[in-house]
Amino acid sequence: MVVGNKNRPSGSESESNTSIIFGIKEKVGALAIALKPFEANGITLNYIESRPSKRSEATYEFLITTDSQVNDNEVKAALGELTDNASYVQVLSRSERSQESVPWFPRKKKDLDQFAHRILSYGSELDSDHPGFTDITYTKRRKMFADIAFNYRHGTPIPRVEYTAEEIKTWSVVLNSLTTLFKTHACAEFNYIFPLLVTNCDYIPDNIPQLQDVSEFLKSCTGFSIRPVAGLLSSRDFLAGLAFRVFHSTQYIRHPSKPLYTPEPDVCHELIGHVPLLCDPTFARFSQEIGIASLGASDVWIERLAALYWFTVEFGLCKQDGKLRAFGAGLLSSFGELQYALSDKPAIKEFDPEVTSVTKYPITEYQPTYFYTQSFEDAQEKLKQFAAKIAKPFTLHYDAFTESIDILETKEQLSQLAGLIKAQVSTLHCALERLGSSEYYAINTGNLQQ
Ligand SMILES: [Fe+2]
Repeated sequence: MVVGNKNRPSGSESESNTSIIFGIKEKVGALAIALKPFEANGITLNYIESRPSKRSEATYEFLITTDSQVNDNEVKAALGELTDNASYVQVLSRSERSQESVPWFPRKKKDLDQFAHRILSYGSELDSDHPGFTDITYTKRRKMFADIAFNYRHGTPIPRVEYTAEEIKTWSVVLNSLTTLFKTHACAEFNYIFPLLVTNCDYIPDNIPQLQDVSEFLKSCTGFSIRPVAGLLSSRDFLAGLAFRVFHSTQYIRHPSKPLYTPEPDVCHELIGHVPLLCDPTFARFSQEIGIASLGASDVWIERLAALYWFTVEFGLCKQDGKLRAFGAGLLSSFGELQYALSDKPAIKEFDPEVTSVTKYPITEYQPTYFYTQSFEDAQEKLKQFAAKIAKPFTLHYDAFTESIDILETKEQLSQLAGLIKAQVSTLHCALERLGSSEYYAINTGNLQQ
């Protein structure tokens, strides 16, 4: 067995094929005993981490990673021996599927650093039909933005960018055109937040807001933060970010030749389309629910969740005071499609995860069908019921204190979680009592009148 690899980043879980999480009862030499099967089977380990276990009392939890595949005979043999000594064993695999493993997913916010290098296409690689394809200056600029994101690491500020006069002009055209539509086309939650972004983050025509400033404001509203992204992420990786309340965002702007058109997400789409609603607590919870549902899910379920994301977070409509309004970022950042979506041209259906998640959608033209929800709460409830059907061997819980995902499997963990909820209910109880007996009664019966 070899531990460590000089080519991998130190101090963080490396991007290995297989991650194995296991618990060993506290005793002298616990780790040595646990690692023996790997040594005996000649398996090279890239990374070892130890923590107090949340799943079992008086137990240490270890995470080890290896480039070996989960279906290798050596790994199977080592896992067999490990299972005899461990309180529990969980295997996450990046590339192979087996009965014993689930698809790899990040368990700490810091793990999202691994996505930086897993992009499907680099931000400066433009298609031949892209408006900036033959513009060398634009392509170079795109590379600069892609490099910033590629080198970005968790916990560091997003580098500030000095946008050119031409880029700011493009932003102003987009912002000025869209703001003429928001009052009549955007949902109430969007119109409530937007003025606060103008005040706090300089959402004004002669300034492209800096991602770092917007991220800080967002964090203070709902705990969401922004990470720059160098190119297209897979649906699995993008959705996984949402589980940690992290939104992967581009930083470049569309080509100046077509300010009201972009074939891909750009900073206008992210800041004007996505950020306002990520500041809304209920919408933020809804977004995180999709993310958590995606962790460890099979490829088939990821595809269905990506469709749900598409028809809600990107192109969702809602009914408010009997009228359709947009809340999807793809609509709120598109002058043309925002008007089209609320016209009588497309088909409009009520959001139903079972149907919506298997509906096909074009990505380069206006949608033929949109789905509307009664409210974000309604959408969240339906999503929860849908997510409960996803076949997984465990339940996941996001721990906001440690910014990590817990795999809930044991009575001890459920007891810990129950204790936390009990403390919160107690706080709620005190607050309700202080409101006075009449309001207390009204809230408890769900009939509070404003
Ligand atoms: Fe988007």
